Amino acid sequence: MPDIIKAVDILKQGGLVAMPTETVYGLAADALKETAVDKIFKIKERPYHHPLIVHIAHQDQLSAWARDIPEAAWELVQAFWPGPLTLILKKQPHVSDKITGGQETIGLRIPRHPVAQALLQTFGSGVAAPSANKFTHISPTTAEAVRQEFGDDIDIILDGGHCEVGLESTIVDLTHGSPVILRPGMITAKMLENVLKTQVDFSKNSVVRAPGSHHLHYAPVTSTFLIATKDIPEFLKTFSEKELPAALVTHHTFPVPSNLVHVQLSSDAKSYAHDIYRALRELDNQHFHKIYIEKVPESVEWDAVRDRLSKACR
Ligand code: TXA
Ligand code: MG
Repeated sequence: MPDIIKAVDILKQGGLVAMPTETVYGLAADALKETAVDKIFKIKERPYHHPLIVHIAHQDQLSAWARDIPEAAWELVQAFWPGPLTLILKKQPHVSDKITGGQETIGLRIPRHPVAQALLQTFGSGVAAPSANKFTHISPTTAEAVRQEFGDDIDIILDGGHCEVGLESTIVDLTHGSPVILRPGMITAKMLENVLKTQVDFSKNSVVRAPGSHHLHYAPVTSTFLIATKDIPEFLKTFSEKELPAALVTHHTFPVPSNLVHVQLSSDAKSYAHDIYRALRELDNQHFHKIYIEKVPESVEWDAVRDRLSKACR
């Protein structure tokens, strides 16, 4: 187990701790210290109107941060916490505008990674933690990736190995009556509907239901493009030497020529999600002219992967 006592000391002194969670690594600061929260925005180069998720250790702490908590929230808490689900609820008045982006709502989550759990339990209060990457970059799924993003700008990086889920949490807004998914994750709409016994919609801005509305966000620096599975054989035939060096990421098997770097990921959505950010980060580090990615299925278990790929690609 990494040095939890030292990390808690750093949080108490207003410093920054990189914390492994089961989704991706987070960049954590004491959520009650505005100067500490400020540091997160500075080193991420993140605009202030992008609110932060507050991470807590136990569901007893929920009402210290949120008020008027609806029954649906408690049902989701019972079913999925600790785990990769963030709930948007009405905030308690004391919660800083720095965390909420000046809104009346707050995002809350209990992560299940044992290192995050140990840190939060020992700390005893909430930590604000966005993904531990510079604004618009790919979220880190290893301690090494965090080091690559920030070097020595973070006071301590707790190494918790490769994140189990590999994509950011599902975000569900419960402040408007019926539940709305603001960001799809590996807890799918179907899983939420099974618990809530009601329809769960995607936000109008979600690329899951509204293709074309995306902007580059979780993106490699290299120009990255999606190709439909059926178009890959033709792409491989007509691929020009001029585009090299280039890489192709697939989840099916194709006879890929040796001058094209090929990464084959799993055809199972869960395993694919676990590996895709690390794969993209490693490819990005090799400075290809282009990265091509085979499109993934339209089915619900691929919603989160499809969402992130559409934001990574042009
Ligand atoms: O899995 C995760 O959620 C990771 C780990 C570290 O917990 N965190 C994460 O944080 O992805 P971040 O800051 O990279 O993304 C959080 C998203 C942002 O898009 C933000 O706009 C949204 O959550 N968010 C946070 N608070 C919100 C609020 N009160 N209302 C609406 N959206 C909110
Ligand atoms: Mg992020």
